[in-house]
Amino acid sequence: MELTHEQIAQYQRDGYLSLPGVFAGAALDTLRGAMRRIIAADRDWNFYESEGGPVRAYNACHWDEPVFADLVRAPETLTPARQILGGDVHLFQFKMNPKAPFGGSTGWAWHQDYPRWKTSDGMTENRAINVAVFLDDVTEFNGPLFLVPGSHRDGVLDGEEHANTPGLVALELTDTVVARAIDAGGIVSAKGPAGTVLVFDPNIVHASTSNISPFTRHTAYLTYNHVENRLVNPTREQHIASTDYTPLWLETEVA
Ligand code: SIN
Ligand code: MN
Repeated sequence: MELTHEQIAQYQRDGYLSLPGVFAGAALDTLRGAMRRIIAADRDWNFYESEGGPVRAYNACHWDEPVFADLVRAPETLTPARQILGGDVHLFQFKMNPKAPFGGSTGWAWHQDYPRWKTSDGMTENRAINVAVFLDDVTEFNGPLFLVPGSHRDGVLDGEEHANTPGLVALELTDTVVARAIDAGGIVSAKGPAGTVLVFDPNIVHASTSNISPFTRHTAYLTYNHVENRLVNPTREQHIASTDYTPLWLETEVA
């Protein structure tokens, strides 16, 4: 799935691009089947909201589930990532966030992704991209991602460490920084039906609130990184920050 020049320009200007209807019908059913198997499995790579609490993130789903391994190499996800990053990419991170209903998930405070990857993993530059695949419908009710358009263009902003779930901590942005960013760019709510693909820049300011609705909001986040953009002092485990720089190929490119 090739992005047009206009879509790439829009991504560069706004820091995100929403593509509804990328997965539908049988392809979407297959992804949702994989989602259900991950939920049912006893996995070592899950993070929990609290001890005994709901899952906050199912990490490295592509290790356990061939459907998600295929998703990493799919034209709908890999092609836009390679186009935007301009070269070969590897998979840096795969997670599926369930956004537990009835307030079971605490949400995600305002942050940028790249500062955490720089601090914890030594990612040299922001030459990465998040490709989110909505596995449930995302509405105003079940904790959609809030994005601040254009905020990625200001680079790394002032943040502070926050003791959240270990391994998933973000450097939370200060209120002043968030207010300034929103004053400049406004806020959008990334809603869309299951099967939507949302690509966003790791420096875009984003957050989400808890989900008090009865509806889950499973979203898979695939983070691709340019193969030249090495992690110079990785401190986190492979299921969170992969140092396997093997370039990814579409199935059709493999002889
Ligand atoms: C994230 O920012 O990494 C996840 C936010 C969300 O799933 O709402
Ligand atoms: Mn994030």
